[in-house]
Amino acid sequence: MEDVLILGIESSCDETAAAVVKNGREVLSNVINSQIDIHKRYGGVVPEIASRCHIEAVNTVIDEALEKAGVTFSDIDAIAVTYGPGLVGALLVGVSAAKALSYALKKPLVNVHHIKGHICSNYVAHHDLKPPFVCLVASGGHSHIVYAKDFLEYEILGMTRDDAAGEAFDKIARVLGLGYPGGPKIDALAKEGNPHAVEFPRVKMAEDSLDFSFSGVKTAVINHIHKLDQKGEGYNKADIAASFQEAVCDALVSHTIEAANRKNLKTIVIAGGVASNSALREKMTTEAQKRGIDVLYPPPVLCTDNAVMIASAGYYEYISGVRADMRLNAVASLPLEGGK
Ligand code: KG4
Ligand code: ZN
Repeated sequence: MEDVLILGIESSCDETAAAVVKNGREVLSNVINSQIDIHKRYGGVVPEIASRCHIEAVNTVIDEALEKAGVTFSDIDAIAVTYGPGLVGALLVGVSAAKALSYALKKPLVNVHHIKGHICSNYVAHHDLKPPFVCLVASGGHSHIVYAKDFLEYEILGMTRDDAAGEAFDKIARVLGLGYPGGPKIDALAKEGNPHAVEFPRVKMAEDSLDFSFSGVKTAVINHIHKLDQKGEGYNKADIAASFQEAVCDALVSHTIEAANRKNLKTIVIAGGVASNSALREKMTTEAQKRGIDVLYPPPVLCTDNAVMIASAGYYEYISGVRADMRLNAVASLPLEGGK
């Protein structure tokens, strides 16, 4: 089979990204223009600012991705773009750029679901990985346990009922005065703390549910800090960060392993920004190994939002014949199943 080169474009949140990927697995370039320095002044992503920054960056980022890959537009077989879920104004910038390129260059356009992209980041990191497997996708916007039946077939086994895991990390980091984005800051600080200093509550769902809920632990941490503040007692931020992280990772790990057991699968993959959390990687690996289950995850640069994962997911869609046309629109809330 001839090589297939996909240009991926991602702009669903605060990263403007473009990448060229060969055959869904080989990274030729990976360009990410992060807006973190701009949004951190506000303690989180400001949608209107994100859209404007994407517009300013998108053409340069695409040009740079081609240049770094050592290819031109004529070498590209198709353009893959995230069309949802995400911030609608942000998504529209990538979608419009991809549509313009597809029209001008007469190249096929492929629409990609952002979460499918996160899952596919593992195909790039692990060239032998093939479905079926169970994937935990934990990011700032999602916490899903997904059963990947095949390259294009997914079933959700569990999801958060309230906050996403990354959202909880960001919130607690803010309360602890650590800044945005909070995940990496809590991860680093927790290394100096005791994860059992405070036993924050673990939410019990109905017996057979693999869903998550992180708003309870978030509130418990905030109440704990307020109480100590009111009593004028100091507290050890590292202990709180470590204990909070332990509670979140406990839920993520136990539900994902339970999902793998139910499906009788021996491979768990993790993806999304929170997949770069060191405690999550360690706990998932240790607990899974006890049960003879392998755990795979991408390097941190492929965990957070990037366009390599979109090009990889776009490749599998492209070879199966999926095509979008000039009517493609951005969709802020896009379900994973039946999402295309
Ligand atoms: O996948 P991503 O870049 O964007 C979304 O699709 O949401 O994920 C960003 C999220 C943020 O909430 C960030 O705090 C979290 O991932 N994150 C982490 C770590 N690195 C990023 N959370 C915990 N530990 C980390 N090391
Ligand atoms: Zn994401």
